[in-house]
Amino acid sequence: MKSFATVLFAGLTAHAQEAATYDAATKVFRIDGGNVTYAFGINDLDELQPVYWGARLKPGDPLPAAHTNEGHASFDLPSGTTPQEFSGWGAGLQLEPALKITFPDGNRDLVLHYVSHKIEGNALTVRLKDIERAVFVELRYEIDPATGILGRSATIENKTSAPLVIEQAAAGTWTLPQGTDYTLDTLTGRWASEDALHVEPLHQGERVLESRRGSTGHQNDPWFAIERNHTNDQDAGDVWFGALAWSGSWRITVEQDLLNQVRVTGGYNPFDFGYKLAPGESLASPVFYGGYTHDGIGGASRLLHRFELTQILPQRPHPKPRPVIYNSWEATAFGVTEAGQEALAEKAASIGIERFVMDDGWFGQRKTDNAGLGDWYVNKEKFPNGLKPLIDKVHSLGMDFGLWVEPEMVNPDSDLYRKHPDWVLNFTGRPRTEGRQQLVLNLALPDVRAYVFGFLDKLVTENDIAFLKWDYNRNWSEPGWPAVAPDEQKQVYVKYTENLYSILKELREKHPNVEIESCSGGGGRVDLGILRYTDEVWPSDNTDPYDRLTIQDGFTYPYTPGVMMAWVTDSPSWANNRATTVEYRFLSSMQGGLGVGANLNHWQAEDFATAKHLIAEYKQVRETVQHGDLYRLISPQKNGERDNSEQSVTESVSSDKSQAAVFAFLHSSTQGYPYPLLYLRGLDPNAQYRLHWITEKPGGTLPETASGQYWMSAGLALNLIGDFQATAFRLDKVQ
Ligand code: DGJ
Repeated sequence: MKSFATVLFAGLTAHAQEAATYDAATKVFRIDGGNVTYAFGINDLDELQPVYWGARLKPGDPLPAAHTNEGHASFDLPSGTTPQEFSGWGAGLQLEPALKITFPDGNRDLVLHYVSHKIEGNALTVRLKDIERAVFVELRYEIDPATGILGRSATIENKTSAPLVIEQAAAGTWTLPQGTDYTLDTLTGRWASEDALHVEPLHQGERVLESRRGSTGHQNDPWFAIERNHTNDQDAGDVWFGALAWSGSWRITVEQDLLNQVRVTGGYNPFDFGYKLAPGESLASPVFYGGYTHDGIGGASRLLHRFELTQILPQRPHPKPRPVIYNSWEATAFGVTEAGQEALAEKAASIGIERFVMDDGWFGQRKTDNAGLGDWYVNKEKFPNGLKPLIDKVHSLGMDFGLWVEPEMVNPDSDLYRKHPDWVLNFTGRPRTEGRQQLVLNLALPDVRAYVFGFLDKLVTENDIAFLKWDYNRNWSEPGWPAVAPDEQKQVYVKYTENLYSILKELREKHPNVEIESCSGGGGRVDLGILRYTDEVWPSDNTDPYDRLTIQDGFTYPYTPGVMMAWVTDSPSWANNRATTVEYRFLSSMQGGLGVGANLNHWQAEDFATAKHLIAEYKQVRETVQHGDLYRLISPQKNGERDNSEQSVTESVSSDKSQAAVFAFLHSSTQGYPYPLLYLRGLDPNAQYRLHWITEKPGGTLPETASGQYWMSAGLALNLIGDFQATAFRLDKVQ
């Protein structure tokens, strides 16, 4: 028996016109989409075994039939050397299983064999069953024909006559070709310091990315990329990548086994998991999306961005560009009042802001973060006549109105908690650990779900609200659910998040014009699951424009700039006491969805003039920045750690290549060395492009008009020199 990569090829005729095919002679499934082919077969044991994932093959190309591998001595059985699409924990498997079950009789052995399959267009479902018990798993594969990104999930059905406990459930395992030249890219973070890129060689053993926090978390992004023969060229080389669509506790394990086969398994976090599945019930895993590109890590990002815009976001396939917003948080904190907000709104409108968002502080007895969460009535001291006068004023200024909410939380000092202390996650008789003086409402409880949906529905029905900023400011502790039987309590890890999604879905269906932002103290809840229901996210509470360059750089590895909000706030920034110019702050924020969060009452006339100019410029490029193709010409964390580059340059190219926008930053020049020459990417080499400086002072001496080939090949010299310098320009195709 041979390993995955060396197995002899057997003949296979694929049908190019169908995305998914099955060859009965070789028992191989093949799925094609974009520039990708994915294939797996039914092996001699009737297990599903991966055989190919990579560049799109030609119709009729041979694919290897699946065969189990031999074990390695007596210590590693064939279950440990034969890659599987979806392995049960059984038959001596020592590697990460996709599914682990304890049956009521104590049996914990699970071996899944092929039963049947169904092909429907771009989707393939394969049914598996345990060799003895009536436990079925339906694997679903659906490929996006444009990007080749494949969505995988598994639904586990209990058709036995007794309840069983699922201790581990993944969407499946991705398997890469055998090799030792792989580099793993991951993102880690903490509050106000999200999305640091790490690039590390893969070795034998297991690398775990996870959240045990009840939500996505700041610590790891549910994303991976694996490069073969890593180079510093962002846009060249083989890359396999994936992102998990789940906003509860999750885990992705990356393993290189004893045969140097690389496997990536992702789904619910097995830590403290134990989902009781009654007879007749089923449990669906999150969807784990995966893709492949030959265009480097930059190409992987561009595929994910396009996929998110066209297949994931609620306004898919053509999301509206993000409006330019104003947000009150950094200006007023909890001190919101009708007069204060109206004064800010007038100033915001004068610079071209399109949406005015009132942040925390407008409700209940909310004067600080000690009280009020859960009491979603308007505070009469601050807004004696309700929200209507402010909303009317905002509308009269030509902007729409957005409002902050934190629906899943409660302060112990609130009417809601005094009335329903049993609504929070807790273990009976144990302390309830507070974070920011608040506790987590158990959204799995039907009463809590009804309350949360009810107040949100009322709020947006009674007020003309275009946008909700949905915040979530702590992680779970004591995740108990005393209202249900002890052996059902761990279902909270699934049911909480399912109810979160169902509230968002119902709210959107009933109020299709309300847009929603996912915020969790910054970027604590960003993933492809929440992005199905939210139009944008808040990547970080850290608004220092220099720190933001690395945070935003990391953010864009998995996520499109089209959802990445960035505000211009006051200088010096609270995060580092660093002073920067208004222009520098704007250019940093203009690389995503632009917002302003500064206290406009402190601005001088020239600040308003700069802001007005740059917001007008931003509107000329925002479609390109938000929905175009991103090239990281110079990544500020190019070697995979923060702050290791003096420069940062992004280039966004519109989908039709008619426009490019370039933003260039310099931390500090040293010893008089010039700024590195820039070589643009992704332009039409034969078209002519005209230069337009976005910044008032040109950042270099560049030609007025030249071909795409010139802009990509000539080496553009910018004259950035000094500390915290920035410039930006756009190129427009000459018709
Ligand atoms: C955390 C968010 O990330 C901030 O933008 C702000 O909305 C505060 N919460 C308000 O409490």
